[in-house]
Amino acid sequence: MKIAVIKGDGIGPEVVDEAVKVLNAISKKYECNFEYKEVLMGGAAIDKVGEPLPKETIEVCKNSDAVLLGAVGGPKWDNVPRNLRPEAGLLKIRKELQVFANLRPAIMFPQMKDASPLKEGILGDSLDLMIVRELTGGIYFGDKDRIDIEQGQKAWDIMSYSTPEIARIAKVAFKIADKRNKHITLVDKANVLENSRLWREVVSAISKEHEDIKIDYMYVDNAAMQLIRNPKQFDVILTGNMFGDILSDEASMLTGSLGMLPSASIGKNKIGLYEPIHGSAPDIAGEDKANPIATIMSIAMMLRFSFDMEEAAKDIENAVSKILEKGYRTLDIMEEGMIKVGTQKMGELISQNIK
Ligand code: IPM
Ligand code: MG
Repeated sequence: MKIAVIKGDGIGPEVVDEAVKVLNAISKKYECNFEYKEVLMGGAAIDKVGEPLPKETIEVCKNSDAVLLGAVGGPKWDNVPRNLRPEAGLLKIRKELQVFANLRPAIMFPQMKDASPLKEGILGDSLDLMIVRELTGGIYFGDKDRIDIEQGQKAWDIMSYSTPEIARIAKVAFKIADKRNKHITLVDKANVLENSRLWREVVSAISKEHEDIKIDYMYVDNAAMQLIRNPKQFDVILTGNMFGDILSDEASMLTGSLGMLPSASIGKNKIGLYEPIHGSAPDIAGEDKANPIATIMSIAMMLRFSFDMEEAAKDIENAVSKILEKGYRTLDIMEEGMIKVGTQKMGELISQNIK
């Protein structure tokens, strides 16, 4: 099983190192072999070779079974031209691998319920929702530019979606909902955007082939509010690229911390891309403060989706659960009476619990 490893920038290298520790524990237990190949992307690649996504990285990723990614970006590269920004590398690798479906589960560990900023009673003991975010289209990838005008400048970013782009992501959502609570909420802005009206038409047509799955339609502003008011009403949220980006950060906080949530990006090919949903947190980089759990949970998703190793995926989730149960916390999820540990210690504790 070949895994391309992109550590990236900021806390990326630290959290990836811990995830690899956990993978090594899995490899030992199941006597299987993971072959790692480290490649450059983001700011680290800009510094070394002058571009955020070197050709070699694309090649290595395309020849792997899965890609593990930390995070990219940071203030150091904020003023480079837009096509050379670290984030441009991330968007391009998603496009190159054609991973159009970004699965972002927001699952709360019961041990963490006091870490949620929501009032007691709103979440109860659990939260388990899945955001299915379109990842290779929409406003992120449309024509964008700036021109000079008399009074200054004018900028645009074009948002467009085609019927096949919507249909393929919708089918992923229906498949996932079928294995869960059979309820999809399509989140859009159909009262204003033509894109959203097309999404509704395509999704509603597909829903006719899945009569056992309930489908709701909700405007994104309302959805942002409902996620706080009554998050338990959601099972699967299906949405476009930008709304999915925003709502997944919001949903992560319901569970206590952005540092806890993994993601899997899957698509046309067999190659999956696995990354935490958080960013590179340059303010705490290199200080052994970052929470590696989101990246470690992304490994669980990799085992589940790319390698069909369900039992191993559960081992990781159980190990994380056990460590939380014992009271270990990184800084971002620290609460009174718990034991504060650094990034490396957290990784060690979790890998030692893979037995
Ligand atoms: C994410 C991130 C990226 C995105 C950025 C870094 C380009 O916020 O994966 O959610 O917007 O997709
Ligand atoms: Mg984001």
